[in-house]
Amino acid sequence: MTRRAAVIGHPIAHSRSPLIHGYWLEKHGIDGSYGLRDVPPAAISGFLADFAASGLVGGNVTVPHKEAAFRAARELDPVAAALGAVNTLWLAEGVLHGANTDVHGFLANLDAGEPQWARALGEAVVLGAGGAARAVVHGLVTRGIDRVVVANRTLARAEALRAQFGPRVHAIDWRDLAGRLNGCRLLVNTTSLGMKGQPPLDIDLSALSPDALVTDIVYVPLETPLLTAAKARGLKTVDGLGMLLHQAVPGFERWFGVRPQVTGELRARLVADLAA
Ligand code: ATR
Repeated sequence: MTRRAAVIGHPIAHSRSPLIHGYWLEKHGIDGSYGLRDVPPAAISGFLADFAASGLVGGNVTVPHKEAAFRAARELDPVAAALGAVNTLWLAEGVLHGANTDVHGFLANLDAGEPQWARALGEAVVLGAGGAARAVVHGLVTRGIDRVVVANRTLARAEALRAQFGPRVHAIDWRDLAGRLNGCRLLVNTTSLGMKGQPPLDIDLSALSPDALVTDIVYVPLETPLLTAAKARGLKTVDGLGMLLHQAVPGFERWFGVRPQVTGELRARLVADLAA
């Protein structure tokens, strides 16, 4: 029987997940499908409460339903439990399981782009303190990074991350960033600034050390103004597209039984689709 999965969100038409999973399904000759399910907020708790009725074996969950999926899943992996957000669901013997693979996506993207990135990394600076920042901070803390500075426009949200993740995390006001970049070896943008249609992220990178790595979770455009500025200074950069690709891997393996590869060909297809 055809195994069906989908990405569940609202709105959902823009999602690139069907392209990624469709590529892998074809590559591995699997009798499966991966589609889009637009579920409005008013309907999400009912949809998840009777997930079996959807005909899906599992799926991804995206904005604005990651917290609803967290509440609905009867079994959670430790990362989803720590983040309070689920982006991957599957049914096992009628029980709805939830995981969060965004942390894996973030770390695997850096591992692929700059394999030595975590070696002797003293301090990381994370811009933003929303859901994406929570995943990034979790990843950095579990990798054993000594010091993670969270800089946010709303200081209270950065302080909430510090309270959750402990003494290696420090919270600062976004406006105090200028004096805080000289010790930074990894700079991560988790805000939507720099995304197509949004204002650019306008920060002065001149204090960054020449061996610093700059990464952005925004991938439209692929090279954000932040990454352009970092490259102009000769800094190493990793774009955000790989995070999207790598976060998809564990779900595909769970639903279809094959661990897929993030290949250059897949990345090129996605880049072409985003440019279209
Ligand atoms: P996500 O779950 O995708 O991380 P979010 O929870 O809405 O989204 O968080 C967005 C992040 O981008 C926040 O850190 C937000 O700062 P605030 O907490 O102060 O709102 C940040 N952000 C969005 N627009 C911004 C702007 N114009 N200037 C500075 N930070 C901005």
